[in-house]
Amino acid sequence: VYEHLYPMYSLPNTYSREDILNFHDRISKNIKEEINYVCELKFDGLAISILYENGILKRALTRGDGMKGEDVTANTKTIKSIPLKLNGTFPNVFEVKGEIIMPHKSFNKLNEERIESGEEPFANPRNAASGSIKLLNSKEVARRQLDCFLYSIHSSTLPYNNHYDNIRFMRDLKFKVSEHIKLCKTLDDVFQYIEYWENKKNNLPYDIDGIVIKLNDLNQREALGFTSKFPRWAIAYKFKAERIATKLLSVDYQVGRTGAITPVAN
Ligand code: IVH
Repeated sequence: VYEHLYPMYSLPNTYSREDILNFHDRISKNIKEEINYVCELKFDGLAISILYENGILKRALTRGDGMKGEDVTANTKTIKSIPLKLNGTFPNVFEVKGEIIMPHKSFNKLNEERIESGEEPFANPRNAASGSIKLLNSKEVARRQLDCFLYSIHSSTLPYNNHYDNIRFMRDLKFKVSEHIKLCKTLDDVFQYIEYWENKKNNLPYDIDGIVIKLNDLNQREALGFTSKFPRWAIAYKFKAERIATKLLSVDYQVGRTGAITPVAN
């Protein structure tokens, strides 16, 4: 277990346009300059924080309790899209944060193999990703073909004072950042982005469970600060979980260690 240089925050969840309007109203009361947002996909995996020193990947940590995380460096290094060594100009010490995911292709292959060999398949790509990153055998992790989208960089000396340009800077350093990131000048742009991805999310080769809306300007973010739990400058808009009709074939009654009986629908 190691301490994060910069803590790992989580986001308040919202489910309606009204929540987003309220978020914007609160920000508008405090920020009297022009307000720009950045909209991003909310990747459904597990959070990761990666420390670079002098351009070398030094350590990768899970979120843990937000302040301290578990060391998963060896396994993270097996993810091909994460650079081990950087070229160019960058701060001596910095952290990048992002989400480790298991793309659908890797997930389907892994589950087919597990069923074939009589093992329990994973319920979803998120469980498969978090189960995989904690494995003891890095060779097995490499085989499972995880991927990672980075969504922020943290350092005492960042090149730009806005998020959007820092994301471009990360891309130039060959970090994998999403191509579906949008700078929004108006709330209408934000709503359009949400509507677009509510319709198109199933075309992506990986799972997302919503949209993240972030204030672009880092000075404005600092002025707003944090509540005891969350930043005041970002929210997650979560998609309603998909429901489909299915047929109940039978019910098993599982007997637990303590004798408690749990009905399980098949
Ligand atoms: S930003 C202070 N951006 O969603 C802001 N988070 O509760 C910190 N996530 O576990 C997070 N995609 O790992 C951010 N584009 C994205 C994200 C993202 C997925 C995860 C994150 C965290 C949770 C937020």
